[in-house]
Amino acid sequence: MKSYDITVLPGDGIGPEVMDVALSVLDLVGHKFNIKFNCKEELFGGCSIDKYGIPLTEETINNCKNADSILLGAVGGPKWEEQPHNKKPEQGLLKLRKSLGLYANLRPAKIYSPLLNASSLKPDVIRKADVMVVRELTSGIYFGEPRGIDKNKGWNTLSYTREEVEQISHTAFKLARKRNNRVTSVHKSNVLESSQFWKDVVESIHKEYSDVYLNEMYVDNAAMQLVKDPKQFDVILTQNLFGDILSDITAMITGSLGMLPSASLGSKHSLYEPVHGSAPEIAGNNKSNPLAMVASVAMMLEYSFNLPQASAMIYAAINEVLELGYRTLDISTKDTNLVSTSVMQNLILEKCADKSDTIIEMVRMSYEG
Ligand code: IPM
Ligand code: MG
Repeated sequence: MKSYDITVLPGDGIGPEVMDVALSVLDLVGHKFNIKFNCKEELFGGCSIDKYGIPLTEETINNCKNADSILLGAVGGPKWEEQPHNKKPEQGLLKLRKSLGLYANLRPAKIYSPLLNASSLKPDVIRKADVMVVRELTSGIYFGEPRGIDKNKGWNTLSYTREEVEQISHTAFKLARKRNNRVTSVHKSNVLESSQFWKDVVESIHKEYSDVYLNEMYVDNAAMQLVKDPKQFDVILTQNLFGDILSDITAMITGSLGMLPSASLGSKHSLYEPVHGSAPEIAGNNKSNPLAMVASVAMMLEYSFNLPQASAMIYAAINEVLELGYRTLDISTKDTNLVSTSVMQNLILEKCADKSDTIIEMVRMSYEG
């Protein structure tokens, strides 16, 4: 039997409850596809600050490095906001991304058709939209030096090296080939030298992918175009900070931040997490939407374990449950059935379990054969 080691970082707020749902789905996938997933939990974020005084310990980093992949819930909350800047839970997340070399952050925003009315954007605007934000994740202004704060000034540095832009460009162009063959390089080259450099390097790498269509867009215009007509985009390739902002906008294509999964990939490691935060205001009340976390498991199965059928099974289950009108609070509208996190969990598990055993058996044989 195939077996994979997974480090599980539930984190803070709603992180642990959405992680529970995701792990139950993973368990079911393991049974159906005859794979053993060995999950080991570690403290990370605010809960690690409470126990060890820091958001990310060396032990957690080492466990992540030794695993085949990593699942992360969410970190942060008001309890830790007063921590000095370098000890906030969010800094732990940045350190984790950096230590594992997770330079490519993939944030796919695709509308599930039953949710066409859940978005604040008009159904006609988002119908058939399918955008993949490829965000550079381990450089840019998030990590640039010098940085600091004193009484009269706060400062950060934005820079990119050739190697950094080249590697994320390869990721975006390769991904576009498997999708609709279009890359939009988003930057601010009319103002920033680092963006002029970004634009030039992306163009030079594009020569190796002349079958892929490349266009350029300033980031302010991209923000507007995303709400005006998201269908014009396929892959958006952009730097760390712009990707952070634009991916929250693309979340509204899916109706809610609670629907958006993500993959963070490096040359050795991979981590999967929902794009949403720890939502402390609803944590512990059985109200959170677990679907972004569940879809993050689907991404892990596809990208890290080459199990596209298992991942398709999960997406199909999500779609069926939405089709039946079940919604957690964040995506509920009138005429839909408002359900709790745990009812959503049972519905997803039921739909996954339903998938015909003959199909699963065929899929399994195709993997093993
Ligand atoms: C994200 C989050 C993080 C980021 C925070 C929590 C550090 O907003 O993953 O989008 O800014 O990268
Ligand atoms: Mg963000």
